[in-house]
Amino acid sequence: MKTTQAYRASIVHFPNKSSCPKQDYQYFEDGLLVTRNGKIEFIGEYKNHINQYPDAIIHDYSGKLLLPGFIDSHLHFPQTEMLASFGEQLLDWLTDYTFPVERKFADPKYAGHIAKIFIRQLHRHGTTTGMVYSSVHKQAADALFQEAASHNMLLIAGKVCMDRHCPDWLQDTPQSAQQDSAALIEKWHNNGRLKYAITPRFAPTSSPEQLQALGELAQQYPDVFIQTHLSENHNEIAWVKELFPERKNYLDVYDHYGLLRKGAVFGHGIHLEQAEWQRLQETQASIAFCPTSNLFLGSGLFDLAKAEQENVAVMLATDVGGGTSFSMLKTMGEAYKICQLKGNQMDPMHGLYLMTQGAAVGLGLEDSIGNLNPGTDADFVILDPEFDVLSALRFEHHRTPQDMLFALSMLADDRAITATFVAGTAVYQANTQTDTQIIKGAL
Ligand code: GUN
Ligand code: ZN
Repeated sequence: MKTTQAYRASIVHFPNKSSCPKQDYQYFEDGLLVTRNGKIEFIGEYKNHINQYPDAIIHDYSGKLLLPGFIDSHLHFPQTEMLASFGEQLLDWLTDYTFPVERKFADPKYAGHIAKIFIRQLHRHGTTTGMVYSSVHKQAADALFQEAASHNMLLIAGKVCMDRHCPDWLQDTPQSAQQDSAALIEKWHNNGRLKYAITPRFAPTSSPEQLQALGELAQQYPDVFIQTHLSENHNEIAWVKELFPERKNYLDVYDHYGLLRKGAVFGHGIHLEQAEWQRLQETQASIAFCPTSNLFLGSGLFDLAKAEQENVAVMLATDVGGGTSFSMLKTMGEAYKICQLKGNQMDPMHGLYLMTQGAAVGLGLEDSIGNLNPGTDADFVILDPEFDVLSALRFEHHRTPQDMLFALSMLADDRAITATFVAGTAVYQANTQTDTQIIKGAL
């Protein structure tokens, strides 16, 4: 959008990298955010500064909360349709539900249809960046990137690589995984705002030869992201130890093949050994904390306080479809509950940090996303703290930013999202009929 846009709302964000998000946030109760050409031009108090923008189109969201767009650092695009599948823990859940669903993505037309629904779900929940696993099929990743590109999103995604211990109709090979991933990197990485992540599913489904091939690829493309799963479930960990007896621990499998570095995001990391914490810290790799998934699959309780103590970067993530909601607000609420069970209290500002600036810093993307600093991309979300009768009652007398965020993390979901903006353009506005049309295939 070429013209200058001015947004009036209560604004919260973290301008800097922070080791104490409880204190380091910036809050403007009557705030002004100015955007131009898809970038943020100004952030500050409304009354003192609006006169500087006489030509701006003003969008008055007084009483609402404007935050940086949410970053969901781990989720699976093909699992959109299998949320909430009953009863299993990780390994059986993969066999019984996940693999059969992911098979459907061999059909590029089907992948394109679900890509539309998936991206729309991100936007209607206020998520502007996702770090996404596609299926094993190259063309499904193409469909996902295509859809994200049509909204000018900063999306990070990768084709899943797996050449063993899964049905043969879902397997690639070391060579095809390397070639297909390389072709996708050449086509999509840094194409507009898009980024690529090399994506071995997890150690049990990749042969040593495949991990070797992907390590070589990571070396060849040093600025590409890496994502995989780590230490999620006790049976999974025992299996990895059986499959790779010569490695010191689970993380050491990935380390051995050159898959640890800044920009490498490991899903879960619930049952880590001390040496693994240390190696994550040394390599500046990150952990995606996926609370709804960890509870749903009975995987365990992530130790956020330990991660902080060990100086390991953590980001919040839904892990759809092991996770049960696309809502990063709900995800933050469940993270709080897990911390309670571990004897800690996660401050709401800390929660917000882990799904905005903290995630951006972990990914090395804080110059583009995660905060509302001038010069960054205008990805932001507008929340209505009074999205239903109960929340209206709750906020009648209480309106500190901490309290609003905390209560929203417990009570809200997509109903609280008024609008979502990507690179300065509204990609979602509440009260439209668009979603039904997308699901029916009419859009
Ligand atoms: N480990 C390997 N694949 C998966 C997956 O799809 N979801 C989760 N939660 N864990 C995994
Ligand atoms: Zn996952």
